Amino acid sequence: MENFVHDIPTKVYFGKGVLSQLDSALRQFGKNVLLTYGGGSIKRSGLYDEVMKILNEGGFKVIELNGIDPNPRISSVEKGVALCKENDIDVVLAIGGGSTIDCSKAICAGYYYESDDLWYMVKHARGGMKVLPLVDILTISATGSDFDDSAVISNPETNEKIGVVFAHPAVSILDPTYTFTVPAYQTAAGSADIMSHIMEGYFSRTEDSEVSDGLCETILKTVIRNLPIALKDPDDYAARANLMHAESVACSGIPEYGKLGSGWPCHAMEHELSAYYDITHGVGLAILTPHWMRYILKKDPSCMWRFVRFAKNVWGLEGDDERELALKGIDALEDFFKSNGIPSSLSELKIGTEHFEDMASHCCEGGRMGSGFVPLDKDDVVNIYKDCL
Ligand code: NZQ
Ligand code: ZN
Repeated sequence: MENFVHDIPTKVYFGKGVLSQLDSALRQFGKNVLLTYGGGSIKRSGLYDEVMKILNEGGFKVIELNGIDPNPRISSVEKGVALCKENDIDVVLAIGGGSTIDCSKAICAGYYYESDDLWYMVKHARGGMKVLPLVDILTISATGSDFDDSAVISNPETNEKIGVVFAHPAVSILDPTYTFTVPAYQTAAGSADIMSHIMEGYFSRTEDSEVSDGLCETILKTVIRNLPIALKDPDDYAARANLMHAESVACSGIPEYGKLGSGWPCHAMEHELSAYYDITHGVGLAILTPHWMRYILKKDPSCMWRFVRFAKNVWGLEGDDERELALKGIDALEDFFKSNGIPSSLSELKIGTEHFEDMASHCCEGGRMGSGFVPLDKDDVVNIYKDCL
């Protein structure tokens, strides 16, 4: 088992009605609030009005940045930083999913950044920066941005999507009832993202980090059980709450404690797909992951034991032929994604081979894919993209 450091300073309020904590969560930092959100789901759901009531009654001064896109753009970060500087903002309040929270993390860091070149900041940030405090209200179970220190920001002009470490949110308000309105496609895509965050760490060479492996298997089974319930009955509180609990822990680093890192290969490959084609992150992961699994199993069968464990402990499969069992586990994962309405090929998203070489080169920059569970080179990555067609 490897050494690890636990360092998550975010205060999390979880459950029905925890919006009651919003006033005090903000007040400790000051009264000037930048409120950030996406394309309007919070207005349609009524959450915006609930929040504004609390902010108005509390005497907060509120400046808004709206229209943050899925796969948030550097242009939104620039707008947010300018608003913070013009209005002497004390705290940023992000309401939404990973895109709004990520954009807000970059805004919090950009406020204190010494230059105006915020894209340079995104490309070079390594954590430990001075940041404005961030409070968030999560509305979709997917990324875990509410409980980690990372943000992923896109630059459509350069076809780049960069994941970077800024800082954890100070406070996260997680009320599963706010996810009742998430559409089926986004609910399924978010669940695929949660599962991917687990699988990226689970597929490690370390065999003896038992708490982490057990936690990973439990979270995967939790998503497998609850996603179909949430799709059938979007207002099922227990299903939504379990998905939200799972999303928060899944990307926190906790499920990987004590394990050798994997380099998160599916995320590296997916970020290229969404950089070039602006697709939904979880959908890209759901397409890539089973193909990546089959590819590495063929390339390096010494990782078979891990797939056998996955088949048995996550999918409840049995059998004496290890290779057959390993492949059945991968098929079960692919079938699960399909049965929950997620596209299973890049062709379905109208993606062809035209950028595969460039995407694979970016992916492998800095040797990122060259270590981990099964090292991959540029040709391997191109082959995996082709398998996904
Ligand atoms: O923009 P609005 O109108 O709010 O609609 C959003 C958006 O269209 C909608 N939505 C969210 N909550 C809703 C809702 N619709 C109805 N009711 C609600 N309660 O869902 C759509 C997707 O929202 P988004 O924030 O983009 O989703 P997600 O949370 O999946 O975030 C994806 C982004 O996070 C990055 C991804 O790459 C992508 O850019 N990631 C961030 C990570 C991190 N910070 O640690 C890790 C992840 O691996 C991931 O890369
Ligand atoms: Zn992800």
